[in-house]
Amino acid sequence: MKPPVKKIVCIGAGYVGGPTMAVIADRCPDIEVTVVDLNATRIAAWNSGELPVYEPGLDAVVHRVRGRNLFFIGQLEGAKKLADADIVFISVNTPTKTEGEGAGKASDLRYVESCAQFIAEHATGHTIVVEKSTMPVRAADTIKRILGKNPHGGTFEVLSNPEFLAEGTAIRDLEVPDRVLIGGERPEPIHALSSVYARWVPPERIITTGLWSAELAKLAANAFLAQRVSSINALSALCEVTGADVDEVAKVVGSDSRVGPKFLKASVGFGGSCFKKDILSLVYLCEFHGVPEAAAYWQQVIDLNEWQKRRFADKITRQLGAKKGKVAVLGLAFKKDTNDFRESAAIDICRQLLAAGLEVVTYDPQVDFADFGKTVGTSAGLTKAVSATAALKQASAVAVLTEWDEFRSIDWSAAASQLAPGVVIYDGRNVIDAQMARKVGIQTNSVGVQK
Ligand code: NAD
Ligand code: UGA
Repeated sequence: MKPPVKKIVCIGAGYVGGPTMAVIADRCPDIEVTVVDLNATRIAAWNSGELPVYEPGLDAVVHRVRGRNLFFIGQLEGAKKLADADIVFISVNTPTKTEGEGAGKASDLRYVESCAQFIAEHATGHTIVVEKSTMPVRAADTIKRILGKNPHGGTFEVLSNPEFLAEGTAIRDLEVPDRVLIGGERPEPIHALSSVYARWVPPERIITTGLWSAELAKLAANAFLAQRVSSINALSALCEVTGADVDEVAKVVGSDSRVGPKFLKASVGFGGSCFKKDILSLVYLCEFHGVPEAAAYWQQVIDLNEWQKRRFADKITRQLGAKKGKVAVLGLAFKKDTNDFRESAAIDICRQLLAAGLEVVTYDPQVDFADFGKTVGTSAGLTKAVSATAALKQASAVAVLTEWDEFRSIDWSAAASQLAPGVVIYDGRNVIDAQMARKVGIQTNSVGVQK
């Protein structure tokens, strides 16, 4: 009988590390869970009243367990915790490489490698090292190589346990996951990690595979989801010129039980920190391993998405033309219920509108405007409003880019008098009450619906 898991350390206190460890600590009160990050500001925020990640339900979980069996600490203290950890999760960022071999496509594993180095230097005894970050297939080889050089004679097992949570629903996804995936080479470490999840996840939802299948399955899962969005977005363009309605088409396609209804909502384009980088990683892997035809297939999912964003902004710049004027942008987050705007369609669309000489007034209930402005890269012409109604004042065009619930209930009959004459609402999410808007004389232009 193997000793039970008593101590877990997670390196990386981001959107995945923080919520995931909070739920593990909540469900396993007898396990000490410590989250380590080299970003001291982030650690301070996790220990404060204002968490660095906005997620429905997260505050309640963190308040239940923080200081009980969940701890957020800096790198220096973290080194000591590694010494007697049973399991160490690596949950750091794996962005697209910007230089060197594979730049622009391959995953940058430098943060993962520095974690492996950190673990090798400080872990003692036997440690299970878990890839929680999304990694390219065969990344575990790199981690094993680094761990092999540890100075204390420690022994290690490497598992792949990729995370499938989606932002905005992270707590629900962690508490009631569709599946937990554990890939490994030997049964003992797989059992040890399974025993943690088994406290709240039914056994039939814990899938175990080989290491390489687990690494690749994570990339494949994201690629399939993004592919569905690009498929429906490709159809949205055809709907706009033929008179078919994209939501009706999606309903019919999705009611086939072999296809299913989820992830068929036409939009201004998918965003988020992972879809693009993970598909690029898959494209690179296909090229690297000599299957360029497969690489071209997946690349098209991204190309279509870039085109969808451009196509949306083009409609606005064409309408306003030389008249210029003000565009009210409602929603900067890449989806509702998150403060995350990484790779959000709003970034490219604001850039394109600003480059066309338009004034852009933005409103988002959660996104930090200063950070958003820095990402867009120019402050000239880009401003923030305190509410959706404030953003609408004298707008010549309205662009709805995130499906926040509050945009569904905008009272267009009350807003009509504030808008500039001839205003058009471009609904990139098909969430506004278009019927009400049209009733009061406002033109609407929805994705996948003929004007
Ligand atoms: P993030 O950028 O929010 O957080 C990563 C954290 O790691 C940062 O706080 C950073 O300071 C820290 N870090 C980096 N290098 C470190 C080091 N050497 N030592 C200590 N801390 C270090 O990233 P995220 O969104 O949490 O994503 C993490 C991984 O999980 C990525 O591989 C991503 O693809 C994957 N993933 C993300 C999501 C999501 O919804 N965001 C979902 C599933 C999987
Ligand atoms: C996605 C996956 O859903 C998670 O399973 C995965 O763990 C995660 O990526 C990751 O690896 O990071 P996330 O990016 O948080 O999660 O959010 P999604 O709900 O997948 O939405 C992604 C983008 O697609 C958003 O911009 C969303 O608005 C867009 N989308 C989604 C559509 O345009 N239409 C849809 O029908 C669904």
